[in-house]
Amino acid sequence: MKYFIANWKANKTKEEADRWVDTFLTGIQSNSILKNALLEDSLRIILCPPFPLLYPISAKISGYKNIYLGSQDVSVFDKGSLTGEVPADLLKGVIQYVIIGHSERRNLLHETDAMLSKKVEKAKSVGIEPIFCVRGEQDMIPPGVRMVAYEPVWAIGTGKNDSLDEVLTTKQKLQSSPTTVFLYGGSVNEDNAKIYLSSEQIDGLLVGTASLDPDHFLRITTK
Ligand code: PGA
Repeated sequence: MKYFIANWKANKTKEEADRWVDTFLTGIQSNSILKNALLEDSLRIILCPPFPLLYPISAKISGYKNIYLGSQDVSVFDKGSLTGEVPADLLKGVIQYVIIGHSERRNLLHETDAMLSKKVEKAKSVGIEPIFCVRGEQDMIPPGVRMVAYEPVWAIGTGKNDSLDEVLTTKQKLQSSPTTVFLYGGSVNEDNAKIYLSSEQIDGLLVGTASLDPDHFLRITTK
C-alpha cells in the first residue's frame, strides 16, 4: 500500500475546492490503473483540506474506496467552552486522519512536544489516525504513532527535495517500529516522486504545493 497525502495548508475557497475534487474524481474514473489500485488496496489517498472544507469534501468523496479525509490539526483540549478550537470529538466521523506536528505549526505557532503528544492522544481516543510530522531525527515521536512523515524544513515549499539516501538514513535514525508507515514530504512533485516510490522502505508521500493542482497530484499518484 502506498499513501498519497494532499496537504492543502491554508489554501482554497469552497468553489476552488469543489472544482479540485470534481477534476480529481473525473481523473480517477478515466484512469483504470489508478481506479484498480484504489480498489485493490495498493494505493490510498488522503485529502487534507482546511477545516471549513471537510464537510463538503466528505460528501463528495463518500463511496470512493481508499480516498480518505484528514484535517491539518486537532485541538489539545476536549470539547467545551474554547472559542475557536476544534477538538477531536467534533472531528470524529468526519475525518479518518489528522496531520500533527507539521513544522509550520511547530515554528509559527510554537507547538511543543508536550502539545503534540496530547494531540496524538486526543485523536487516537476517537479513532482518528495521526500522521505525525518530524523535521528530522531530533524530533521525538509520541507513543501510539503509526504513521510518520519526515519533512526536512529546508525542503518544504522550496523546490529542493531531499535525496533518497538521506531520507532512508533519517528513517533509520528515527528508529520507529518496522510496522510504522513511513512517508516523505518536502517539494515532492511529478518529476521526483518516483525516486521515493521506487523504494520499498518508503510507504508514501506528503505533498503540499503540488497537491494544489488536481492533475499534478494525480500524476504523482500514478508514478
Ligand atoms: P511542499 O509541502 O510539498 O510544498 O514542500 C509539503 C508539506 O509541507 O507538507
